[in-house]
Amino acid sequence: MMRTCQIVSQKFAIEDAHTLSIAQEHGAYDTLAKCQEFTPLEMIQIIKESGLRGKGGGGAPAGAKWALMPQDSEQSSVLVVNCDESEPGTFKDRQIITKDPHLLIEGILLTCYAIKAQDAYVYIRGEYFQFQKVLQRAIDEAEEAGFLKNINITLHRGAGAYICGEKSALLESLEGKRGHPRLKPKQPEPEWYFGQPTLVNNVETIASVPFIIQNGAEAYRAFGTEKSPGTLLFAMSGHVQNPGVYEAEFGVSMMDYINHYGGGIKNGKALKAVIPGGASTGVITAKEAEEVTLDYEALRSMGSALGTGGMIVMDESTCMVSVLKNLLEFYHEESCGQCTPCREGTGWANTLLGKILNKRGSSADINQLLEIADTMNGKTICVFAPAVSSVIVSFLTGFRDEFEVMV
Ligand SMILES: Cc1cc2nc3c(=O)[nH]c(=O)nc-3n(C[C@H](O)[C@H](O)[C@H](O)COP(=O)(O)O)c2cc1C
Ligand code: SF4
Repeated sequence: MMRTCQIVSQKFAIEDAHTLSIAQEHGAYDTLAKCQEFTPLEMIQIIKESGLRGKGGGGAPAGAKWALMPQDSEQSSVLVVNCDESEPGTFKDRQIITKDPHLLIEGILLTCYAIKAQDAYVYIRGEYFQFQKVLQRAIDEAEEAGFLKNINITLHRGAGAYICGEKSALLESLEGKRGHPRLKPKQPEPEWYFGQPTLVNNVETIASVPFIIQNGAEAYRAFGTEKSPGTLLFAMSGHVQNPGVYEAEFGVSMMDYINHYGGGIKNGKALKAVIPGGASTGVITAKEAEEVTLDYEALRSMGSALGTGGMIVMDESTCMVSVLKNLLEFYHEESCGQCTPCREGTGWANTLLGKILNKRGSSADINQLLEIADTMNGKTICVFAPAVSSVIVSFLTGFRDEFEVMV
């Protein structure tokens, strides 16, 4: 049974809700007065209690990240909103910034209040040129209306690199450097932007904050599961009748979602596979798709991940070798090249897949792919390479026979 959930998509169907006047008619910025009832620390506590998890792919608890931000530092903190959205299969954040940009701005203002930040940056995918204009117009409107008296919001366009969505690469890029991921600290700590403590959150994470502040942590927890509370803007592409972005609560059955919102598989064909959470999550088989629910825990138990919830649905006519080759071309192009296993591994795997696809490969090449995947796992600066590794393994676990018949 699919419940209607509208935490971030409430105004999506309202005409011109991207304009300030219409957005305000429907409650935009009402929470700014309400948040004054709380201290910044109380705001962080509410976010912790809501169980809000980051919606940029990792699902990290948002409240715990916010709590890392210093409350008594003389240095001002910074908020960075990640709108890089460059992963194949993921196209949800653009819905928020075009259909309800004031919701994001309201979330930014609430978050800045909680973490005591005066500067916020929205790092937006370079190709989102038209969407960026809508967001900039909304920021200008909010400024003219006096909502941004204490906060500067700056929109920064990326230059088209997928890796710049990784938060530390994003910050390097924002600092004007090449977008290379940084080494991870041993202990949890804030990110750093020009030496200032910085919080990086996804667009949808920040856009979920007004609902939580307006309605309370329990209202958010009324959706989803115990460990994956709330909702997600799941995106669906591929062989479905109605591809698109639809908000649903965590924990619903994947097939119910595909049938209810997607209208089922196109042209009466059978389902073959689903990439469940954007291109960097492992593929699952039709049988697994029939069993799995859309939450972090269920997908992890299948050896995949919920990621961004961007589902790529594939029917029985899909060649899985071609799909993996297509993905490896992308990964090879997008590896930043700092780590040898990633730089060389993506290129080598791409070459081997080309050989297999052109019927010039051998069984040894298939085994070699698994060895390359093993070398890419756990030995690199960022999780790009381990994600690619798990994708290769998932294709060879679920669909090895398709690779075998080509060699
Ligand atoms: C290769 C790579 C690309 C990423 N791209 C994005 C992105 O486009 N948008 C995003 O919000 N997070 C992206 N992430 C995750 C970010 O590093 C970070 O975890 C996220 O922005 C934190 O926000 P959240 O906790 O609200 O999800 C990416 C991670 C990796 C490894
Ligand atoms: S794993 Fe790949 S993308 Fe990440 S830092 Fe290393 S080379 Fe760059």
